[in-house]
Amino acid sequence: MPAVMSLSGERSHPTSRAPRAVRCAPEQVIVVNGSQQALDLCVRLLLDPGDEVALEDPGYMGAHRILAAHGARLVPARIDSDGIRIGELGKKARLVYVTPSHQFPTGVSMSLARRLELLEWARQRGAVLIEDDYDSEYRYSGPPLPAMQGMANGAGVIYIGTFSKVMFPGLRVGYVIVPRQLVKPFTRAKWLADRNTPILDQAALAGFLSEGHLERHIRRMRRIYGRRREVLIETLHRHFGERARVFGDAAGMHLMVRFEDPGVLARASRNNVHLARSGAYYLGEPPAGEYVFVFSRIGERTIREGVKRLAD
Ligand SMILES: Cc1ncc(COP(=O)(O)O)c(C=O)c1O
Repeated sequence: MPAVMSLSGERSHPTSRAPRAVRCAPEQVIVVNGSQQALDLCVRLLLDPGDEVALEDPGYMGAHRILAAHGARLVPARIDSDGIRIGELGKKARLVYVTPSHQFPTGVSMSLARRLELLEWARQRGAVLIEDDYDSEYRYSGPPLPAMQGMANGAGVIYIGTFSKVMFPGLRVGYVIVPRQLVKPFTRAKWLADRNTPILDQAALAGFLSEGHLERHIRRMRRIYGRRREVLIETLHRHFGERARVFGDAAGMHLMVRFEDPGVLARASRNNVHLARSGAYYLGEPPAGEYVFVFSRIGERTIREGVKRLAD
């Protein structure tokens, strides 16, 4: 799938100049059935049951569950305004799973200083970092920081990308970019798992990329999602004012809201508005009144009406 290989930065490609500054040779890019399969291959190859794995708390359930299913001992590390807290990574973690571009679900973008600190932490311990870069294409303010993989400088970083968010989740195509010494084990494990990601899907996607459609699609969707995001923030502000604190909205397809309004949940159920609590993403105790709003799937009018019904 040559167009995907151009993400390497070692081969430029006319349609892929929005770089994540990933550094690799084409053979280090292994096409998989979405991030979930990439994670599954990582844990099968790199973990033994009982091994410690550090992960973001709150964090992505898809990662929590697959690690737990393989018998990993999960070490939750909280998030501050710079990203994952290094002091909470545990003493013996073999793997660290992070979403540095847009922490899921809090939306924190890991600072450069924290990235460098995390890379150094991993280098000193011989731990492997899994960088899940699931939605960095949709960013609404400020340029994204380059991928950690490109600054690894000797640290073991596995980079996971997916077309789930940038295109649609039913398209089970993603890619994992592994250090050179892991190319053979990963290629073999993928072959053992299911031979290959469907060739027809890959061919259609390769055509889409090489004809420049992906970049156009991203530009268009960024405008649409950006507008929905603005409408959501503006409507929340209008109806709730100080009683709703919005955060994690600089990128992606969701944002977080913390309500200082004990009646909001009752009004949501009375007025038939689905509110998604953030609690499911926490390994520890979740904060009260915190919700995840996915704005990408809902039209502007529905957003306006839904927020109004929450407030009424
Ligand atoms: C943090 C994170 N990683 C990855 C994914 C996508 O996973 P997949 O590529 O398996 O669809 C999601 C989707 O919600 C996600 O939130």
